[in-house]
Amino acid sequence: MATELPTTDIRISTEAIRRRKGGTPIVCLTAYTYPVARLLDEHVDLLLIGDSVAMVLYGHKTTLGASLEMMIAHGQAVMRGSARACVVVDLPAGTYEASATQAVASARRVVDETGCQAVKLEGGVDMIGQIAAIVDAGIPVMGHIGLQPQSVEKDGGYKIKGRTEEAVAALVHDALAVESAGAFSVVIEGTVEAVAADITRRIAIPTIGIGASGDCDGQILVIDDMVGLTVDRVPKFVKEYADLRSVISHAAQTYAAEVRSRTFPGPGHVFSATKSRDDA
Ligand code: KIV
Repeated sequence: MATELPTTDIRISTEAIRRRKGGTPIVCLTAYTYPVARLLDEHVDLLLIGDSVAMVLYGHKTTLGASLEMMIAHGQAVMRGSARACVVVDLPAGTYEASATQAVASARRVVDETGCQAVKLEGGVDMIGQIAAIVDAGIPVMGHIGLQPQSVEKDGGYKIKGRTEEAVAALVHDALAVESAGAFSVVIEGTVEAVAADITRRIAIPTIGIGASGDCDGQILVIDDMVGLTVDRVPKFVKEYADLRSVISHAAQTYAAEVRSRTFPGPGHVFSATKSRDDA
């Protein structure tokens, strides 16, 4: 059972996350719903409403199916279900790339309508104008470099980054650019291990790895992947800590058998004419 939500405002700030550079690893997970946020809040430092929500909950083939409205609705649910974790919401594709003005407007809407502490956006050197403008507007930004799922169509698939000298140099440039634009932390995804470790040593903001390196300042996974709920292919970098596919499938199978055999509902799940203390 999830513990009661604390009533005092003890949320971990983006500044506290930034200060964790080089310290105890920062524990991050994605969350998209109220009940999952309730369960995760006490265990993690940071909850991300990733645009992976489009794939994980809505069955889209890529994260390009996410909209600002979707991110806001799920951001609100996660904020209602958490009281302690730092909450970051992804800016989905098409809501920030065009200009700094567009990026600030989208970030402002997300923060105003959800109450989250920060936004995340994908991109390095190409997005420094957007990151700097959002930070100037008073909204903390988490960067996202390396494999960028919003570029999957442009890149022709999910390609690991940093396998050539040129690609390593580009990745280091991206990391330095995101840092100098004012991001409080940066996700490094789908990158050669030694490159992610090297970037972690070179920049002063925390790196959050996913398919990157154990030397990163923190780690993040998609919640449905790590609890074994993902029904399609699970990426190599995922460790499944539970097998909820089997748990749910077994529960549904047992329920179906009990309904068909009229074993459910049993005496404990129906009401008698006289009111009892156990009534719902
Ligand atoms: O959308 C997402 O879930 C993400 C994480 C995997 C970092 O960006």
